[in-house]
Amino acid sequence: MSAVAHALLNTPTPSALLSPHALGQLRLRNRLAVAPMTRVTATPEGLPTGTMARYYEGFAKGGFGLLISEGLYTDTAFAQGYLNQPGLAEDGQASAWAPITAAAQANGARIVAQLMHAGALSQGNRFRAHAVAPSAIQPKGQQMAFYYGQGAYELPRQITEEEIEDVIVGFAKSARRAVTLAGFDAIEIHGANGYLLDQFLTSTTNQRTDRWGGGVSERMRLLVAVIQRVKQAVAGRAPVGIRISQGKVNDFHAKWSGGESDAEVVFAALADAGVDYLHITEFQAWQPAFEYNSATLAELARRYAPAVPLIVNGGLHDIGRASAMLDWGVDLVAMGRGALANPDMPRLLQRGMSLREFDTAILGPIADIKQSELALRSHPNGV
Ligand SMILES: Cc1cc2nc3c(=O)[nH]c(=O)nc-3n(C[C@H](O)[C@H](O)[C@H](O)COP(=O)(O)O)c2cc1C
Repeated sequence: MSAVAHALLNTPTPSALLSPHALGQLRLRNRLAVAPMTRVTATPEGLPTGTMARYYEGFAKGGFGLLISEGLYTDTAFAQGYLNQPGLAEDGQASAWAPITAAAQANGARIVAQLMHAGALSQGNRFRAHAVAPSAIQPKGQQMAFYYGQGAYELPRQITEEEIEDVIVGFAKSARRAVTLAGFDAIEIHGANGYLLDQFLTSTTNQRTDRWGGGVSERMRLLVAVIQRVKQAVAGRAPVGIRISQGKVNDFHAKWSGGESDAEVVFAALADAGVDYLHITEFQAWQPAFEYNSATLAELARRYAPAVPLIVNGGLHDIGRASAMLDWGVDLVAMGRGALANPDMPRLLQRGMSLREFDTAILGPIADIKQSELALRSHPNGV
């Protein structure tokens, strides 16, 4: 039986979720985080809007300890994935986040900037007409309609050695802007969900024969290089974490081809690179990561990167499941859809009130922030 399954047998209480905790140097009022969620509500130029400010402030007022921003694009070349996605690629974009981070902090939360390069999955980029990827392989699946996409993904061009260096510089400069201009408390590198860094990690999308491709250690090189340069860029002023998954937005059930031995290489390399936390996300985080092996991906992260703090995400709005994660040693639980339905989740749990069900209408037909969501943030039953 896995450690999670064992913990589930004990009666769960939300009290552990609501107790203060430190994620490395970040002191948090509780162990509930808002997962990163792209909401395509920025201006076409990638500046955050007043609607976004109210959206993030609502999670802070609702009691969440940590807010992870939606994926912010990192350069003015190939990083942008979606129209109306916010960026950190320019100083003006970063400065425009300062009031949002200040409001989150004033309301007792800490806020993380998630840095994202879309790679082959870019379906809306005002700077470039075509996407780049580790290899010229057409992504599986269809573009996301709720992010203004239509039809199949385009065939990307293979990224050059010089452009890989530009990617690394983009992450590093964005991280610096996030800390110096925007006022974020931490940096999260988006290494998950099928975007550029995950495309490098994944054997089916990375078929390079140079130093950036090959076995899993070689496919990890770009992730390690980005972590190292981002850490140099922020120079100890903020923790630097990374988000990792097997599943992808265009391939939910993808699995690492080498099973647990890939997990060992991946998590040990991330720990060696000096990452300050790991954010593990799976569609159902409590399920075994691989067939014939009862361990979840989070448990494998703990096994092979034992000293690195851990955030776990994926279907954990069931509070029993979330509490079970903490019981076996996870540091924080991140909520996506559960937080959209319950921006005041920590307050509701504190008062013993039941949580609202997630309504998919929030994300349709376009996944932008709806007025009804903002109304939820001032509802008498809410914050
Ligand atoms: C509308 C929406 C947008 C998302 N955007 C991002 C994103 O920008 N970055 C990211 O790492 N994950 C993103 N995700 C994935 C979530 O962070 C989370 O992993 C997913 O919703 C599963 O968690 P849940 O079961 O708690 O909802 C997004 C999810 C949703 C529903």
